[in-house]
Amino acid sequence: MKRGFLILAVSLTIIAFITAYLIYTSLSVKTRHLERGYYVGGETILLPLPYVMSEMSVEESILNRKSIREWSSEAIGINQLSIILWCTYGVTEKIGDWYRRSVPSAGATYPLEIYVVIGERSVRVNETTYIDAGVYHYNPLTHSLNLVKRGDFRNDLYEAALKQEWVGKAPVSIVIFAVYERTTGRYGERGVRYVHLEAGHAGQNIYLCSTALGLGTVAIGAFHDSMVAEVVSAKAGEQPLYIFPIGVPAKPYSSSFDNVHRIIIENRR
Ligand SMILES: Cc1cc2nc3c(=O)[nH]c(=O)nc-3n(C[C@H](O)[C@H](O)[C@H](O)COP(=O)(O)O)c2cc1C
Repeated sequence: MKRGFLILAVSLTIIAFITAYLIYTSLSVKTRHLERGYYVGGETILLPLPYVMSEMSVEESILNRKSIREWSSEAIGINQLSIILWCTYGVTEKIGDWYRRSVPSAGATYPLEIYVVIGERSVRVNETTYIDAGVYHYNPLTHSLNLVKRGDFRNDLYEAALKQEWVGKAPVSIVIFAVYERTTGRYGERGVRYVHLEAGHAGQNIYLCSTALGLGTVAIGAFHDSMVAEVVSAKAGEQPLYIFPIGVPAKPYSSSFDNVHRIIIENRR
């Protein structure tokens, strides 16, 4: 009798543990994608959460940075796109009611809006899946991409950028827009200068991050503003400033500090 009671108590305890474990795992499966982030398809793509992806130092990245205009046919990875977008304008810290970003901003007014033009089979999610071709808008606070419109708009961007081939052929282009009013509202005309300086900070981050990942980019300033705005269906008040086509360089490139030293010593003579 006593033994039967003991077996019953042990069995009930085991069942209770198993039930608790099953409830816990089913709940954590539901929320896990919010913590880690992964491709969900459809209208919103929760990007993989940013982390340190490259082993290259800042100095090496600056050393090896150069404008790349020829791409291999390879797609880039979703992790690579994720970290490049985070470097462009991602959040780094919450301070009271505002969020510090990856770039400095006059009065923390953050006037930039980031769009991404993604081609067909251009951003790999895994061996067989790619992000749908389309125009997306980057949301830094949730580190996600919101679909603006579906389709491969790289050719339209190429036309808008005075038919620069490297724009049409890159798998992905980041397009930086500005809402001047956010900064000029506080600083008047001088705010225009501040917005341009901030776009430069974001652009350099794109260069350095791409280089560190073994990817390449080139700053594009020559384009028809109204056509670029139309390509991404920009909102009223958003002005295009910069396009950064990104891809795998056709020819790997690296410089060396020996090279730099030679130049400096030569110039000292
Ligand atoms: C504001 C700005 C606009 C630029 N516009 C273009 C452009 O429209 N097309 C292009 O191929 N390169 C463009 N470039 C890239 C420059 O040609 C390039 O940075 C320069 O030749 C130096 O080469 P490097 O970047 O390899 O050091 C631009 C660069 C800047 C800073």
